Amino acid sequence: MKNSVEQYLELACQMQQQGQNSQAIEKYLQVLAIQPKLVHALNELGELYETEQQFDQAVNYYKQVVELKPNNSFFYARLARAMMGLNNFQRAITFYQKAISLNSNSRAWVYHGLGDALMEDGQTQNAITAYRKALDQQPVNPRFIQSKLNNALDVAQENPLRTISLHIKKDAPYTGGPIQHFEIVGRDTIISLLQNGLRPDHTLLDFGCGALRLGYWLIRLLDKGNYYGIEPVSSMIEAGKKYSLGTDLIDLKQPQFSANSECDFSVFGVQFDFVVARSIFTHMTPALLRKTLESFQNNSKQNAVMLASYWPLEYSHEGEIGDQLPLTDSRFIKVVKYSLATIQSWSAEFGLIVSEFRTNPLINEQVWLKFERATKNPS
Ligand SMILES: C[S@@+](CC[C@H](N)C(=O)[O-])C[C@H]1O[C@@H](n2cnc3c(N)ncnc32)[C@H](O)[C@@H]1O
Repeated sequence: MKNSVEQYLELACQMQQQGQNSQAIEKYLQVLAIQPKLVHALNELGELYETEQQFDQAVNYYKQVVELKPNNSFFYARLARAMMGLNNFQRAITFYQKAISLNSNSRAWVYHGLGDALMEDGQTQNAITAYRKALDQQPVNPRFIQSKLNNALDVAQENPLRTISLHIKKDAPYTGGPIQHFEIVGRDTIISLLQNGLRPDHTLLDFGCGALRLGYWLIRLLDKGNYYGIEPVSSMIEAGKKYSLGTDLIDLKQPQFSANSECDFSVFGVQFDFVVARSIFTHMTPALLRKTLESFQNNSKQNAVMLASYWPLEYSHEGEIGDQLPLTDSRFIKVVKYSLATIQSWSAEFGLIVSEFRTNPLINEQVWLKFERATKNPS
């Protein structure tokens, strides 16, 4: 006769196999209520929460597992993988390394994961070593890992922008996106703005300018006094000024910055020719996005253009759907996607028209939106 723990475990396993994750979680929790230190249940809960993308919960259960099994390499690797889900790359590196120190013959996915974490942390040379080790371990996906190794080898070739991004990474919370995108996002943005008519004599607002991933290029291009940046996180502006610009360039071009977090473009008293918002609508829930549209309408010239990148509904990562959120929601979150139709209807409320600008290859699946006044002066 099976005891209740065995029965719960059997049921949980069946539910898990049938993809009934929340029911399986419930059963494993019932097991833990009886045997709180049962490694199998704790580990399965970690895995289920990982599948559900609830990485804080996954970390919580895997931590309990490694406390109970401190010499088990595999469990450390799982904890590391869940840390990656939380974007906690440094902790992920620590746990992957611990897993490898316990078993230097770890499976390919462990070295692969370590490589990814090291890349995110800007440790390209170490990532190259990790990807090579992953390829030595006969992975099931060698071509995928080889393409990551090739990318790391490309990134490892030193250049000034690479150096800047590594410095910023140390001083600021992040560089504005994945560190390996620092150069290409700035390059793509300036190309997209030039394709839309940007000239050195235009005034430009870099909304949510971060650590000047775009400012690096824009401030060099624009005439003195024509670049304005809004960024609420002061350590990002300071890192950007120090590493992306330097004092000579700041003296020469006199960029102006504001720490405003209210989406208020009026803080400089300037009517802008251009506004650029890279990786901003990708995080703004409706109230902030709509305030931005209003601010653009109120603080830009008749023929002004705003380029803002967004994630359309087909973006491959999990996230909230902005169309379904209340108009009063004013959060800055990890991922929010919108339909073009919703942004078009909100734009119309503020006298704006919007179209996608998809001329260049997409980076990080972000699509540029081009906003203009519905009524423009004839050119
Ligand atoms: C993903 S980063 C992009 C930074 C920059 N646009 C770039 O491409 O490098 C988003 C930036 O928006 C800033 N941010 C957060 N809340 C904001 C707000 N209410 N208004 C403007 N920017 C905000 C963040 O601090 C961060 O620097």
